[in-house]
This record gives sequence, C-alpha cells and structure tokens, in this order.
Amino acid sequence: MTQAARFALIQLGAILGASVCVFFLRLPALYWALIAGAFSTFAAMRWHDRKWWCLIHTAFPLFILLAISFSIDPRWYLAAFLLCWMVFGGVLRNRVPLYLSNSQALEQLAEQVPQGARLLDIGAGTGTVLAWFMRYRPDVQADGIEFAWLPWLLGRIRLANSAAGWQHGDAFAADLAEYDVVYAYLSPEPMGLLWEKAQKEMRPGSLLISNSFDIPNVPPQRVCNIGDWKGSRLLVWKI
Ligand SMILES: C[S@@+](CC[C@H](N)C(=O)[O-])C[C@H]1O[C@@H](n2cnc3c(N)ncnc32)[C@H](O)[C@@H]1O
Repeated sequence: MTQAARFALIQLGAILGASVCVFFLRLPALYWALIAGAFSTFAAMRWHDRKWWCLIHTAFPLFILLAISFSIDPRWYLAAFLLCWMVFGGVLRNRVPLYLSNSQALEQLAEQVPQGARLLDIGAGTGTVLAWFMRYRPDVQADGIEFAWLPWLLGRIRLANSAAGWQHGDAFAADLAEYDVVYAYLSPEPMGLLWEKAQKEMRPGSLLISNSFDIPNVPPQRVCNIGDWKGSRLLVWKI
C-alpha cells in the first residue's frame, strides 16, 4: 500500500472515530480535532515508517478545523487540489517530487558533460537544466522528458524558441541508447530501476549522473561536491 493511501485510511478511521466520540459525549469541535489527531498519530506510530508522518497526522485534523472556520468557498479547495495534482500527482506513482537543480549543480554538471554531447534530463521538471545548457553550453544537444503536466507546460513555454528537445511522458519508457549523458535528479525510490535501465540501454562509455541520490550497492566512479548549503553531490557512473 502506498504511503498516501495509508495516510488517507488512517485519517478516515481517526476522523470517524473522533466524530463518534464527539457526538456521543457532546464535546465541542476543538475536541474533535484533538481526538482525531491523537487517534491518527497513534496509528501512524505503528503504520508509517518515518517520524514526520506522525507530525502530519497530528496537525491534519487541526488544519481541517481551521479551514472550516474560515468558510472558504469549496471551489478554492478544488482549484488547489487540481493545481497540486498537476504538479505533484506523479509522486503517488513514483515518489519523485518537483525540486529544481541549482546553478552550482548545473556548473558541476556542465564540467562532466563532454563537448558536443547529447544529454537527456530524465524528469526534467520545468526545463531548468535545459534552459541553462542552451544558455551556457550551446554545443550540447539537450533533451528533457517530464510527465507532470504543469511543469511540462511551463518548460514548453520556457524552451519554446530553443533547440532543446522537450517531451511529455514517462522517462522510464525513453530510449537511453541515443545519449552520451543521462542526468537524473529524482529521489532514492527509482534509482535501482534506473540503474537496470541504464545498464540495458546506455552505450559503453556514456555517463549516468545523479544529483544527490545513490544507486543501492553500486558505488559511483566519481563524486563531485556541489558546494551548496545542502551539501549535495553529483554522482557519476561510467557505463
Ligand atoms: C526533482 S525534479 C528535477 C527537475 C529537473 N531535472 C531539475 O533538475 O531541475 C524531478 C522531476 O522528475 C519528474 N519525474 C519523476 N519520475 C518521472 C518519470 N518516470 N518520467 C518523467 N518525469 C518524471 C517529476 O515529475 C519531477 O518534476
């Protein structure tokens, strides 16, 4: 079961339980939020694997109560949900949210990319990597693939008059054989799968470069410190 489904089930159970308590004991609404928060936090301690889930569970019913007290038009919630879905909907599937490579990372990346190389950014977000290469390394043929609709659309607008290739779709369905360098800034979740794919498809001598995330049990040949506040690293594997 995904973490999101687990979250929804726990909250639903806690909210129902709290509603029954509040109804029979005739308690004020604040108690509803406290009881639901307590139920769900307790359940999260058992069924979620990270401590921060407990915090989210504790706070969630209080936020519901707060939101109800503002009497906001429900269409705003729908709009916010759709916006989040268009940006982060893919997280439910592959657990890779949207965050962008910073300029230090891109400078380090550019040092690893040979002159005239073909580069693919898998999970290209809003096209930050491609826009940077178009500007500072026009010798590189840079392509990007992104499956979240809103970031893809922003990237499309941003790269409209550039030579960058910009596709909508699943990066794991793309053929990596055409590329000299594949850049991935994803999450720990898909790295094992990415390595299997890279081994099958990438040509000998080509480079797989990951921003921050290791491939389990496959040490990189090269590690470059990006020098940002997060202590990020670029990890380089030569196929
Ligand atoms: C951390 S962001 C990195 C964005 C960009 N590469 C950068 O460095 O600025 C990861 C992006 O990958 C996208 N993504 C994750 N899995 C994907 C997949 N299988 N196919 C296409 N895009 C994917 C997510 O939607 C998200 O926008």
